[in-house]
Amino acid sequence: MTPHLEIKNLHVQVEGKAILKGIDLTIQPGEIHAIMGPNGSGKSTLANTLAGHPKYVITQGDVLYQGESVLDWGPDERAQKGIFLAFQYPMAIPGVTVANFLRTALNAKRRATGANGNSKSISIPEFRKLMIKQMELLKLDPTFATRYLNDGFSGGEKKRVEILQMAVLNPQLAVLDETDSGLDIDALRIVSEGVNAVMNPQLGILLITHYQRILNYIKPQFIHVLVSGKLAMSGGPELALQLEEKGYDWIIAAAAK
Ligand SMILES: Nc1ncnc2c1ncn2[C@@H]1O[C@H](COP(=O)(O)OP(=O)(O)OP(=O)(O)O)[C@@H](O)[C@H]1O
Ligand SMILES: [Mg+2]
Repeated sequence: MTPHLEIKNLHVQVEGKAILKGIDLTIQPGEIHAIMGPNGSGKSTLANTLAGHPKYVITQGDVLYQGESVLDWGPDERAQKGIFLAFQYPMAIPGVTVANFLRTALNAKRRATGANGNSKSISIPEFRKLMIKQMELLKLDPTFATRYLNDGFSGGEKKRVEILQMAVLNPQLAVLDETDSGLDIDALRIVSEGVNAVMNPQLGILLITHYQRILNYIKPQFIHVLVSGKLAMSGGPELALQLEEKGYDWIIAAAAK
């Protein structure tokens, strides 16, 4: 079976500084992988690189999505083909409402891929129905639809709207960069339920987090620990519990040997 995502010996530089130093990671459809690791270890660098951020320069290695190298694809092409990134720090776009943003993004994707066997734009009533259903699942007040994207949103509201985007766009590969940070206890559960509702056998998820807590709701099969730009250790869900208990020192020491 062709893996969904195959990261091969990935080296990435930002502003001339080497950040990722040889990452290998394979994700099959239907799998959830969590990446944990100290601040500054390169987790967001990996996420941004997968999404095609132009600042992140691949100096070695390759990234294959459904068997094809993505290196020549721009961020828009990656998104249209089903790669989704929920940002650690979502940006505000004053002047663009949530509803307009989502409908434009969904239509761009449908036009590019001919989703559901047609390449036509979604009608406004059909879109509203889809959006309202997903907003209800994420317990987002309907007034958010007419607000400017992330403009004045609280930290937790921004994270919910990231998952709303994921739910509307229905990607095949979702990279969630600290989607749990800044969420209150109820919001963490609601957002996790939203992610689980979108989960399906064709979707692969790469979930970046600092805390084991979200893994009580979203259940990864694999946990990877990123230290100084390399995956220092991989394991099953029990690894997250060990990290919570023991911190990173023992992994950093083992990786240095
Ligand atoms: N645009 C940039 N210019 C300069 N350095 C950068 C840039 N982006 C990332 N870096 C550096 O790359 C390193 C890795 O950053 P990254 O954001 O990937 O870490 P992280 O693992 O996501 O950390 P955190 O857990 O704090 O989110 C850091 O030292 C950071 O300062
Ligand atoms: Mg980060």
